[in-house]
Amino acid sequence: MKITLKSLKKNWKKYRVDFKSTVIDNKYIPHKPFLNQVHFLTHPSEELLYGGQAGGGKSDALLMSALQYVSEPDYSALILRKTYQDLSRPNAIMDRANKWLSPHDELHWNSNTKTWTFPSGATLSFGYLSHNNDLDQYQGAELQFVGFDELTQFPENQYTYLHSRLRKLEDSDVPIRMRAGTNPGGRGHEWVKDRFIKDEAPNPFIASSYLDNVFLDRDQYGHQLDKLDELTRLQLKYGDWNAVLKKGLLISRDRLNTALISYENTYKSWQPSFCTIGIDPASTGSDKFAMSCLVYFNNGKIVLVDLDATPSAFPEELLKNFIIRNAHWNPYVVNFEQEPGSDSTYALKHWQGVLKDLIRKYGIVVKKTQSSHSKYNRARPTANMIRNNRLYFDNRINSERLRDLFNQYVYVHPDKEIMNEYPSPDELDSLGYAFMEIQKVIRL
Ligand SMILES: Nc1ncnc2c1ncn2[C@@H]1O[C@H](COP(=O)(O)OP(=O)(O)OP(=O)(O)O)[C@@H](O)[C@H]1O
Ligand SMILES: [Mg+2]
Repeated sequence: MKITLKSLKKNWKKYRVDFKSTVIDNKYIPHKPFLNQVHFLTHPSEELLYGGQAGGGKSDALLMSALQYVSEPDYSALILRKTYQDLSRPNAIMDRANKWLSPHDELHWNSNTKTWTFPSGATLSFGYLSHNNDLDQYQGAELQFVGFDELTQFPENQYTYLHSRLRKLEDSDVPIRMRAGTNPGGRGHEWVKDRFIKDEAPNPFIASSYLDNVFLDRDQYGHQLDKLDELTRLQLKYGDWNAVLKKGLLISRDRLNTALISYENTYKSWQPSFCTIGIDPASTGSDKFAMSCLVYFNNGKIVLVDLDATPSAFPEELLKNFIIRNAHWNPYVVNFEQEPGSDSTYALKHWQGVLKDLIRKYGIVVKKTQSSHSKYNRARPTANMIRNNRLYFDNRINSERLRDLFNQYVYVHPDKEIMNEYPSPDELDSLGYAFMEIQKVIRL
């Protein structure tokens, strides 16, 4: 939900006093914020995002906001980046804090804990969250400020976990705040959009623009951004949250859209031959448990009749419901992906136990298949089938699931480094596992 400067103007009288004492008179903030940054520093919402174009002064504003209440005893602020490398890069946020704070002899820097301690006893710490395990170090933390720089690099569960660490100080007016800055794009693009950007999003965001940043050579910066590829340019130069890749290496978005069909108008009259279900289990904590139901028809066409996904690692009820609601297609096999090197015998036993009744009732086989190819190579056969007018998608499938699946078809890439920029293509993988079973029966 975008907030405009109107809200700042309307409430300025109320904000002015605090703003003067916590920012202007704050000797640890050497920069004078420009208007959008003032808005960011004064807005009273518990969660707030400064999001959009590159160079809009987001990291600067985040650091300023963390420093606002360092004169308060026991105030404790934390700023996070995704990796240690991101955190320690020259001129990134921790280095910037060092430039701002190291001239002050009364401050103490602990390089082990990456913490600045202020004369009041207040602290500002820096950290990274590469994996969910890194969350453990914040288990007992009680914070009044958490700042995420480049929020779309994080999964939502890490954000909500840190949110749960916010505590109000006793007998103090210091507000508790979650603050973040980010450009569009990256693994967390969709959840950040849902949480802050959409009109119906529950939390506000302030649009970042490099054109507001009078401290940049804006013409030259604009020319630099013009050199980027189209998608990145739309995201970084124009802060476009709706920009999507139109064409990937495997297939274009337009081609995928032409494979959407309606049950009533198209395949109601086709004769189903057999049905398979493919599962991509959630293994790393940030990926999803995804399931695809594919039906092969006697005319040689295949339809993805159902698709679902959840962040939960053991969604027993969801999987049972998925099988039951597709039981009229007579699925005969549920094929789980087994990551190479992982011992999923236990996991498979678990699922065979969970599905015991359904196995008996419908005569389904529950099995696992080792993933032998890369995600990109697993997506190839289904992309070929779409191009050859053999594979279709039921247009009644949940639109968010379809959106994710189509995005995955477009961004899936053989280069692992590039894939790290995107969420794991779980829906696409589950479709690949359902399709493998079809290939075993019919030579395609
Ligand atoms: N109020 C300010 N006063 C002085 N310099 C500023 C101010 N705001 C930002 N800058 C400077 O402008 C440059 C860009 O700002 P910043 O890095 O905060 O932008 P950003 O939106 O985080 O950019 P990116 O999208 O690249 O992460 C930096 O050198 C920063 O120090
Ligand atoms: Mg930044």
